[in-house]
Amino acid sequence: MRLPLFAANWKMNKAVSEVRPFMLALLEGLHVLSAKAGTHYEVMIAPPATHLMTAREATQKTPIQIGAQNCGQAPSGAFTGEISPVVLKELGCPWVILGHSERRHLYLEDDNRVLGRLQAALKEGLLPILCVGETLPERKAGQTMAVVERQLGILKNAEVAGKSIVIAYEPVWAIGTGENATPAQAQEVHQFIRSWLKTHFSPAFSEKTRILYGGSVKPENSAFLMSEPDVDGFLVGGASLDAKSFSGIVENGLKSRS
Ligand code: 13P
Repeated sequence: MRLPLFAANWKMNKAVSEVRPFMLALLEGLHVLSAKAGTHYEVMIAPPATHLMTAREATQKTPIQIGAQNCGQAPSGAFTGEISPVVLKELGCPWVILGHSERRHLYLEDDNRVLGRLQAALKEGLLPILCVGETLPERKAGQTMAVVERQLGILKNAEVAGKSIVIAYEPVWAIGTGENATPAQAQEVHQFIRSWLKTHFSPAFSEKTRILYGGSVKPENSAFLMSEPDVDGFLVGGASLDAKSFSGIVENGLKSRS
């Protein structure tokens, strides 16, 4: 049984002063929900790296976990502007998002670069969320599975067997557009990812690996998306900036599981 995971990617949003009030509001929403639902799930917030210390302090002794939005490909060295995976560990930040579409498209990170980051993250024992997904022209050209398969391919060169990783399917055309994939579209790709993991690793690895959907997730569509058997949670951008919306996504998503 895979534990549902609700992850927030704040991207480059919010001031440091907004972190604590957000966490308090989210905790309140989640407490009410836990009392009601009694379902087990995980929640992770990935604020900008500059906010991680504050986020760590604000979430200590709470069920909210924190994550980074990227990490460097080495423990330390001459890598101006990069974030050391060792320091993420030191900060008590167990999660790291890798290969997000904005990193791939705006900062030209290719599969090889993402692989280097993934290997460094795994070496430090961080929990990576590897993002994959096709652009609109790629979908229109019928290349969705080929693109996702190519992006997943880096896993064959990383020591993932026996480790915990999460895959996030984020179709680029659904990110920040208000146009989410339909539950059937998401399920089709999630199922493809799961069977790819089975073929290239093992049935057990495929069964335990959580596959999140990301792209215009909101409280209104989370129940529908999560009713699909291979959708194990979400990676949420815009709607995660508001504690009420984010806890609404969790609440409605879990409803389809109970
Ligand atoms: P939106 O939820 O704003 O579409 O962003 C999705 C995303 O990129 C999460 O990583």
